[in-house]
Amino acid sequence: MTEILCVVGARPNFMKIAPIMAAFAAQPIATKLVHTGQHYDPAMSDSFFDQLGIPRPDVNLEVGSASHAVQTADIMRAFEPVLDVEKPRAVLVVGDVNSTIACALVAAKKGVKVIHVEAGLRSQDRTMPEEINRVLTDQISDLLYTTERSALANLLREGIAEERVQFVGNVMIDTLRAHLERAVPVAKTLGVKPARGHAVVTLHRPSNVDDPATLRRLLETLATIANAVDVVFPIHPRTRAAAERHGLAGLLAAPGIRLLPPQGYLEMLGLMVEATLVLTDSGGLQEETTALGVPCITVRENTERPITISEGTNTLTGPNPEKILACFREILASGGKRGRLPENWDGHAAKRIAAHLRVWLDSI
Ligand code: UD1
Repeated sequence: MTEILCVVGARPNFMKIAPIMAAFAAQPIATKLVHTGQHYDPAMSDSFFDQLGIPRPDVNLEVGSASHAVQTADIMRAFEPVLDVEKPRAVLVVGDVNSTIACALVAAKKGVKVIHVEAGLRSQDRTMPEEINRVLTDQISDLLYTTERSALANLLREGIAEERVQFVGNVMIDTLRAHLERAVPVAKTLGVKPARGHAVVTLHRPSNVDDPATLRRLLETLATIANAVDVVFPIHPRTRAAAERHGLAGLLAAPGIRLLPPQGYLEMLGLMVEATLVLTDSGGLQEETTALGVPCITVRENTERPITISEGTNTLTGPNPEKILACFREILASGGKRGRLPENWDGHAAKRIAAHLRVWLDSI
């Protein structure tokens, strides 16, 4: 009998599910894994299963890319028959991608309990597709595991009962700590000179890459940064396509910019741990840089992960070139924010979830 049906779909889910699957096996909790296929390129998906030792998915829904509506609907249609066959006691979803809300919604409508890991994060920006996914998933979850204490206040404000919320810490940091020693020194392979230093850049949010004027300003800013440090830029397929579509591919070839395909987890870790700074619009990288003590410039106006600002190494600049460059110069001059490790980002969050869930499953 499957007790918990776990769901993953997109790249940021994989590092979250890895320690959860391991902790469930150890507890033991009978688990199966469904991959929706939201991300399907080997570099965006398979490499994470290999490097993080995630068991092969029991089911792959193979939905692929589409508009938000079509992608979410395709996942829902494909997930429902899986639930009918597996009849799990609960469905566990992680993070805030379309696969998260799609599978949570199917489960809730069928009366199957929903467990959300990384609950309660809020950017308060409903133009972000992920914010919609977060708010809705939390509303229909029976059990909500949070990564930072600020999440509880967000959930209470939305009328969610406190008994359903458990502060367990950050499973993504479990994965980071477990794999740090195996990080691959990519910068060395690329011939980046340690004395010059490097910035690791990732950009993929629609708000930064879909509008040609914003994307142009950001790429020009990267070219300026590349005058002082090497810029290592593993580029998301969406960003590469947008640059080509808008005739901006030339800016990606500026001196000092090293363009790479999407990197594996251990390669990304290797790039970040040795970086002078990280410049990103990702959610996960804001947390990983805080855990590593590496300064992070976040090219967004808001963050759903405020602890990375108050305790960590993160600074918000928006896509504003003056603010980005001012923050960059400050990092070069002073080394930037060093921060401290947030509470319960100690490598044991998944074990706390498994222990709590075992008791919960035995009580329902
Ligand atoms: C998704 C998540 C986002 C997360 C990001 C990490 C949602 C709403 N967004 O955004 O929160 O930060 O993943 O990468 O779920 N593509 C490929 N190969 C793939 C997957 C995608 O080429 O394996 C291309 C396709 O052109 C696709 C585009 O990337 O249309 C966007 O993919 P999609 O899954 O819709 O969203 P992401 O932008 O990746």
